[in-house]
Amino acid sequence: MKLENFVSVNQLTEEGFWEIMETAGSLKRDLRSGKSHKVLPDRTLGMVFLKPSLRTRVSFEVGMTQLGGHAVYLGPDDIKLGERETTEDVGLVLSRYVDGIMARVFEHEIIEALAKYSSVPVVNGLTDFLHPCQALADFFTIYENKRELTGLKLAFIGDGNNVAHSLINTSALVGVDFAMACPGGYEPNDNLVNRARKSTSVEIYHEPEEAARGADVVYTDVWASMGEEDVAGQKKGSFEGFRIDQDLLEIAGSDVSVMHCLPAHYDEEISQAVAHGPNSVIFEQAENRMHAQKALLSLLMSR
Ligand code: CP
Ligand code: NVA
Repeated sequence: MKLENFVSVNQLTEEGFWEIMETAGSLKRDLRSGKSHKVLPDRTLGMVFLKPSLRTRVSFEVGMTQLGGHAVYLGPDDIKLGERETTEDVGLVLSRYVDGIMARVFEHEIIEALAKYSSVPVVNGLTDFLHPCQALADFFTIYENKRELTGLKLAFIGDGNNVAHSLINTSALVGVDFAMACPGGYEPNDNLVNRARKSTSVEIYHEPEEAARGADVVYTDVWASMGEEDVAGQKKGSFEGFRIDQDLLEIAGSDVSVMHCLPAHYDEEISQAVAHGPNSVIFEQAENRMHAQKALLSLLMSR
């Protein structure tokens, strides 16, 4: 696959997507069996974070070590992207030291600018608009559990946010039927939905039960994302009832897989019992961040 950056799932062909899935499976098996897979010897990944992270930071850093390379963490107070110097200059300078950049930023335009000015591959580690690495790990997890993707029904209960957007893009790429339930006013981006509807079904409801009926996977995320602290109280009122709990699982069916990108706010968007219950694949999903990203990095950064 020829891929220069990974800012959005929409940059992938279906063939490229499956190459990542197969590579992730093979790297996961290598790790489990103790087989060395140092396919990025001496390569360095620069990791720019303007927001907090557990999974993204650790999975990329440990993943680079396992691939024989190294990662440099640059937190919000280190380079002060856009404050101490422009995004353009950061991209131009950082890419003279490192072999790849992963960045977690606020406005989506910032990651696009980094990709434009960097001479090395840039990976989107979450923006306010998209979270494509999460979606790769999510679909890898669904495929591991269901042994197929095309024709499955994925129900997302919650905000039309970055995670929902990347799930919609990926559903369109592989032919998963996407159903969403959110309060009025919190629907996903119109243009993104219209693009996806050319390839798959995207239904938007305002009752969780309607989206969950007959779903193979039910997925949720926090009601208020990072950067939305000032509207979190207001959103809490609007989203009450948009929750994955035992009652909702009974509507979906006994084989439904429960997913959440984490971190979770228990008894808001999901009950703790369901997140830790028999239908949950949430912690497998968190682990799979590392396997999917190692696959992505190995395809983007090998010489
Ligand atoms: N799901 C996810 O991206 O987690 P972090 O915010 O901890 O990286
Ligand atoms: N929508 C959440 C995802 C966190 C991984 C956020 O942006 O905070």
